[in-house]
Amino acid sequence: MKIAIIGTGYVGLVSGACLAEIGHNVICVDLDCEKIKNLKKGTVPFYEPGLDKLVKKNIKNKKLFFETDLTKALPQSEIIFIAVGTPAMRNGEANLSYVEKVAEEIGRNLKKYAVVAIKSTVPPKTCEKIKNLVSKYYDGQFDLVSNPEFLREGSAVEDFMKPDRIIIGAQNEKAKNIMRELYSPLNALIYTTRLESSEMIKYASNAFLATKISFINEIANVCEEIGADVGEISKGMGLDPRIGKEFLKAGIGYGGSCFPKDVRALRHSSGVNGYDFCLLKSVIKVNNRQRQLTVKKAKKLLGGLKNKIIGVWGLAFKANTDDIRESAAVEIIKMFLKNGVKVKVYDPIAMANAKKELSGKVVFCEDLYEAADKSDLLFIATDWDEFKKTDLLKVKKLLSEPKIIDGRNIFSPSEMKEIGFEYWSVGR
Ligand code: UDX
Repeated sequence: MKIAIIGTGYVGLVSGACLAEIGHNVICVDLDCEKIKNLKKGTVPFYEPGLDKLVKKNIKNKKLFFETDLTKALPQSEIIFIAVGTPAMRNGEANLSYVEKVAEEIGRNLKKYAVVAIKSTVPPKTCEKIKNLVSKYYDGQFDLVSNPEFLREGSAVEDFMKPDRIIIGAQNEKAKNIMRELYSPLNALIYTTRLESSEMIKYASNAFLATKISFINEIANVCEEIGADVGEISKGMGLDPRIGKEFLKAGIGYGGSCFPKDVRALRHSSGVNGYDFCLLKSVIKVNNRQRQLTVKKAKKLLGGLKNKIIGVWGLAFKANTDDIRESAAVEIIKMFLKNGVKVKVYDPIAMANAKKELSGKVVFCEDLYEAADKSDLLFIATDWDEFKKTDLLKVKKLLSEPKIIDGRNIFSPSEMKEIGFEYWSVGR
């Protein structure tokens, strides 16, 4: 099938490359000329395992094309995906201006029937609004579809190729069948719903996962008071299939480009529609508090923070990505800095992105040992595999004081004690 994808961020580019890989002809469109110029040469602007190989292969096979001009992509397309950003505004509301602008342009340039599919995460009822917006400029036939993505950074290609489910919200069978045909090579479970339900499935899924994380973080905080081990509790709870073992890892709180934004947006959109979603208010509060608790722990362990040196391992919002958007690590570093701490940081691949935000404020180190060297405390903020394979005796020698706060519970407390560390983790 012939596909256009507007927006070449994480979602748009991964979807475009994967749709080309399963046999479709895909044109990816973005306003950013530099980005498109690089993508035409096969250069992916962010780190995502397996993606550049897929992009290069499908450019070579003439299945994947890049364009800055929407009007060149639209005429031949049977499905036009909108995959531009919906960043959170100050009040939590999703900023729909990019989606609306694209919809307007589609309306102005559409010449024949097509399915317009929204992949961007949008609040319930947005698809209806977008449909009206396209209709304002185009009076021919078209169908609007909601087709949210469930891609995790770091495993986005695999998530696309082997999805648990594909959600398609549409108003008629014709549009649903076109979308079924698109995804048929994947042999995946397809669940079709009305438009509003599909939009809500995406928000409800992310908000529920965020709730699971805040829940286990609260259990962890109680564990610290009563001497229980949150790892054992997650395992024990997760054995109940009704609960499931995923997303029960206690830590320093969720971050990234989706959870914080989507939880706030669902709360805001519920409020606008007349419902106070009070559970989500607590989920957000617990997530913020989890970061503050880490700073409190450091203060207690060091007997004050002013002029102390803290080495930080990990800047990305989670392992296997270079993304630092709403990263708990970066938020905590900023709190350390406010308290007069000197911070030394290391991350396997997120350093370049972090430099844009922390340059001149922290010391960027060549490796994890340099970050530990002469530090009064080591803080582990991201669960990279590289950190788990460290020579801990060497780390102990390098630190001024053998003190570690492990915000991701990557080491065993008893082993750390044996080595001679004063080791504080989360909920153990
Ligand atoms: C998420 C959703 O999983 C995905 O379906 C959606 O499409 C986009 O948002 P992503 O942002 O890539 O994906 O990250 P994810 O792996 O879900 O982790 C989000 C955050 O939660 C990270 O900061 C992670 O460290 C944290 N987390 C996750 C925990 O603290 N504990 C857990 O048990 C799981």
